[in-house]
Amino acid sequence: MQTNTHGLFSLVTLSLLFNAFYASETSGQAPLVLSCGSNGGTDANGRKWESDSKFLVSADKSESSSAQSQDPSLPSPVPYMTARIFKGETAYKFAVNGSSRYFLRLTFYPSAYPNYNISNSNFAVVAGGITLLNNFSAFITAEALSQAYIVKEYLLAPSQMDVLNVTFKPANNSFAFVNGIELIPSPELFDDDTNLVGFSDGSGTLSATSMSMQTMFRLNVGGQYIPPTNDTSGLMRSWYDDSPYIFGAAIGVTPEANMTIGYDGLPPAIAPLDVYRTLRSQGPDPNVNKKFNLTWVFPVDANFTYLVRFHFCDFQNDKANQLVFEIFINNQTAEDSADVIAWAGSKGVPIKKDYAIRVNDKTGDDELWVALHSNEALKPEYTDSILNGLEVFKIGDTKANLAGPNPTISDLMRQHQQAEQSQKDFAQPKKETSVAKIIGATLGAGFGLAAAVCFVSFKRRKKVPGTDCGTSSWLPIYGNSQTTESKSTISGKSHGSTNISSDAACNCRYFSLAEIKQATKNFDESHVIGFGGFGKVYKGIIDGDTKVAIKRSNPSSEQGVNEFQTEIEMLSKLRHRHLVSLIGFCEDNNEMILVYDYMGKGTMREHLYKGNKITLSWKQRLEICIGAARGLHYLHTGAKYTIIHRDVKTTNILVDDKWVAKVSDFGLSKTGPNMNQGHVSTVVKGSFGYLDPEYFRRQQLTEKSDVYSFGVVLFEALCARPALNPSLPKEQVTLADYALQCQRKGTLEDIVDPQLKGKISPECLKKFADTAVKCLADHGTDRPSMGDVLWNLEFALQLQVNPEGSKPVSVVEGSLEEEYECPEPMDHSSFLAMHRSTLSLGSEDNNAAGATDDNSNDIFSQIVNPKGR
Ligand SMILES: *[C@@H]1O[C@H](CO)[C@@H](O)[C@H](O)[C@H]1NC(C)=O
Ligand SMILES: *[C@@H]1O[C@H](CO)[C@@H](O)[C@H](O)[C@H]1NC(C)=O
Ligand SMILES: *[C@@H]1O[C@H](CO)[C@@H](O)[C@H](O)[C@H]1NC(C)=O
Ligand SMILES: *[C@@H]1O[C@H](CO)[C@@H](O)[C@H](O)[C@H]1NC(C)=O
Ligand SMILES: *[C@@H]1O[C@H](CO)[C@@H](O)[C@H](O)[C@H]1NC(C)=O
Ligand SMILES: *[C@@H]1O[C@H](CO)[C@@H](O)[C@H](O)[C@H]1NC(C)=O
Ligand SMILES: *[C@@H]1O[C@H](CO)[C@@H](O)[C@H](O)[C@H]1NC(C)=O
Ligand SMILES: *[C@@H]1O[C@H](CO)[C@@H](O)[C@H](O)[C@H]1NC(C)=O
Ligand SMILES: *[C@@H]1O[C@H](CO)[C@@H](O)[C@H](O)[C@H]1NC(C)=O
Ligand SMILES: *[C@@H]1O[C@H](CO)[C@@H](O)[C@H](O)[C@H]1NC(C)=O
Ligand SMILES: *[C@@H]1O[C@H](CO)[C@@H](O)[C@H](O)[C@H]1NC(C)=O
Repeated sequence: MQTNTHGLFSLVTLSLLFNAFYASETSGQAPLVLSCGSNGGTDANGRKWESDSKFLVSADKSESSSAQSQDPSLPSPVPYMTARIFKGETAYKFAVNGSSRYFLRLTFYPSAYPNYNISNSNFAVVAGGITLLNNFSAFITAEALSQAYIVKEYLLAPSQMDVLNVTFKPANNSFAFVNGIELIPSPELFDDDTNLVGFSDGSGTLSATSMSMQTMFRLNVGGQYIPPTNDTSGLMRSWYDDSPYIFGAAIGVTPEANMTIGYDGLPPAIAPLDVYRTLRSQGPDPNVNKKFNLTWVFPVDANFTYLVRFHFCDFQNDKANQLVFEIFINNQTAEDSADVIAWAGSKGVPIKKDYAIRVNDKTGDDELWVALHSNEALKPEYTDSILNGLEVFKIGDTKANLAGPNPTISDLMRQHQQAEQSQKDFAQPKKETSVAKIIGATLGAGFGLAAAVCFVSFKRRKKVPGTDCGTSSWLPIYGNSQTTESKSTISGKSHGSTNISSDAACNCRYFSLAEIKQATKNFDESHVIGFGGFGKVYKGIIDGDTKVAIKRSNPSSEQGVNEFQTEIEMLSKLRHRHLVSLIGFCEDNNEMILVYDYMGKGTMREHLYKGNKITLSWKQRLEICIGAARGLHYLHTGAKYTIIHRDVKTTNILVDDKWVAKVSDFGLSKTGPNMNQGHVSTVVKGSFGYLDPEYFRRQQLTEKSDVYSFGVVLFEALCARPALNPSLPKEQVTLADYALQCQRKGTLEDIVDPQLKGKISPECLKKFADTAVKCLADHGTDRPSMGDVLWNLEFALQLQVNPEGSKPVSVVEGSLEEEYECPEPMDHSSFLAMHRSTLSLGSEDNNAAGATDDNSNDIFSQIVNPKGR
């Protein structure tokens, strides 16, 4: 880690030097980077910050101060730990080029400063006559967003003056402060004729070149966080992951370019090329795509006009009219025939499109909705839509004002803060390595409006090790509780609106919402480790030092209630070495939250591809497959009634610190036969790429549907590629089809992960491939049972480790550490409780199944992120 960190720093420093040079070349002026109230210093990225004092107009009304405590999320002391504090109106005066646009970034760290009470600080900031902030409370803003510091970014239009005054105006009996100021000259990034949405005749345009703006959101759609040091032209912009803003569960797919992308005429300052190398599209299935809009939702301030910039680069199609889609902003049509290839001229060429929209102050209008949908009327070749990047800028109003109100802190948040105050020593964050800190802190900053997340990059770099999942994680957790103030209760009573059976409630721990909030720092976005159809998954710390995974249901998802109950009922009774353990749940205040063991090594998928550095050996992969097969075998047979998982995929197979594979996500589970003539009729659920074709055709679920999905998992392990990869040629898009085809042609070896070439014994490969192919049989009856699959995989492992040996049985158990645990015997009453709950679920779903055709939206709420959690 240390050496890596050094490598990163020197790279960053290099690119910084380059970028600074570039910026000074293009705008004739070097950027100003000021650490206020200090003599300067170097930050975690190796960026030099200088003192602000020589730019102050009158030094007597201000003083320098140092913060009394350093929040763990600060990437470095510079520039946060020192502040310039203003007791009266004071200005900075900067020499500028009047024909250039400027980025002005203000950093506020509202911490305790000697002799000042930060919660009493309210002030205005005016730059070049434009009110950037008014009655601004950095303290309230940071509290409401649950961030340690706030960064506000403004894009000031050319002023035609050679001086820029930035004035801080404290409110009456108050004071102002600032920690960092960045003033970076920029090429003009905007155009003179931005179309206003809602003027269908094209009469409404806006001259954006003369507008000053505030950055609200800047997203690398379908890609990962791009840190300021990787931005082009030295503008030091952060580009965030877009997934937190996606509306609903239909999040599409995120292919990456497999070709070289160049600017080809687009000014490089518009966006770094990394933005154009990834995109999000609706997905490969035209019938699905017809029925949903790919939608993002952003919280914004009402009564302002917003400029929404779309970045496109189609690297999958090469002809006009292959992909034609509509763009909606706030439910109005901004563009009815977006055709990226037609606009850009050819494949792999980036292009940007701007639209402006007024957001009025009607109820519910403090949100900005952006939605994409294929324009079927124009009969494009593919029913799909794409987006590579998105920026949202707030435009100053007629009174030269950009300031919005302070965010409000909800009552819940206040309660939480009070609780936290009284438990100061609870869940002290551990020291993180510097790289994690840099990234973690950048996460927290956002643009001071909504907490933006770049967790993807964080997650790939560093998985925080989880708790030991090898040991049983039932009740001991609270028995070992290290805090005296733990508020846990165990109770059979229903704690909220859902009906959890009393035995389930007895079997696991009940958490109060306050405890969950404490564990996740009030659901801080930096704790997010995954997303799914169900909602977000957070990493949390309970009882002082125990890491857990916390799954919070999206309150808007109705399906969640049923799945929540199912999951608690089932998981609380199912215990197995190869199933992820449920620790407890919370159902306070309409929240539905499940708490699990934290799985230190994350998902199986992230160890197969997606740029992970450590390549798993074939033996490790086999052992993970075998572990997962055991978990599924137990579900199918261990509990008397068959439990069908319904969503078997590599992101639902998790790996603990000791590389023990565990099956997770029973939210969609169903009990199987004995109840309903050998199958459970239900709406189609599951993930594309893994769906049993028979299940899809007949809407009938058997445990053989899991076997099919598991066959896809086996090929994923062998080929190290996703179940669905729309960026590949058509016949290769679906792994299941492609693998079967290769097997028929005898070319399977060609698609084996290159990293494994020559490392799999031929006998083992044959056994493994035969098993996987059988799993993918078209008819469920032709597929092996999970028990057979398990036996064959163990055999395959034997063939690998000991090519001569041919008796898999007892030897294998020894080689795989311990035997799998015997299922916990279930007593009659708990069994009945489970039966009850699943029966009632079954009947509800049967109704839904009858209505599937008219109500096929249900399908879409189940499209789970194919990219992973
Ligand atoms: C000012 O900025 C404009 C546009 O960015 C540039 O063309 C010009 O050379 C700059 N002038 C000076 C004196 O740097
Ligand atoms: C700061 O002011 C707030 C409200 O004016 C008050 O509640 C708080 O106790 C003060 N804090 C300190 C440290 O004086
Ligand atoms: C300034 O903001 C504070 C805190 O948000 C609020 O209580 C106060 O009413 C505001 N004052 C004005 C004049 O808007
Ligand atoms: C900036 O402030 C100074 C005095 O503080 C004033 O003389 C000057 O006119 C101001 N310049 C602009 C462009 O507002
Ligand atoms: C501050 O005080 C001045 C004069 O006392 C008054 O005119 C002004 O409205 C006050 N401002 C606020 C924000 O209360
Ligand atoms: C930033 O750029 C460096 C050097 O080009 C690269 O190695 C690194 O992966 C980039 N980081 C991200 C998050 O894109
Ligand atoms: C927006 O403008 C309307 C009409 O001018 C006003 O009533 C409303 O209070 C404003 N809303 C906000 C959030 O400023
Ligand atoms: C857009 O439409 C959706 C549903 O059709 C609605 O929930 C949302 O509030 C609308 N958004 C705006 C900004 O009108
Ligand atoms: C997509 O959004 C537009 C605008 O809000 C709406 O008219 C349309 O019905 C939506 N389409 C679907 C399939 O939801
Ligand atoms: C919970 O059970 C009670 C009594 O059995 C019933 O009245 C209530 O409607 C149930 N609530 C839910 C949300 O199912
Ligand atoms: C990139 O993907 C396309 C299909 O989308 C394929 O035809 C092409 O060969 C691939 N190029 C490379 C360099 O892999």
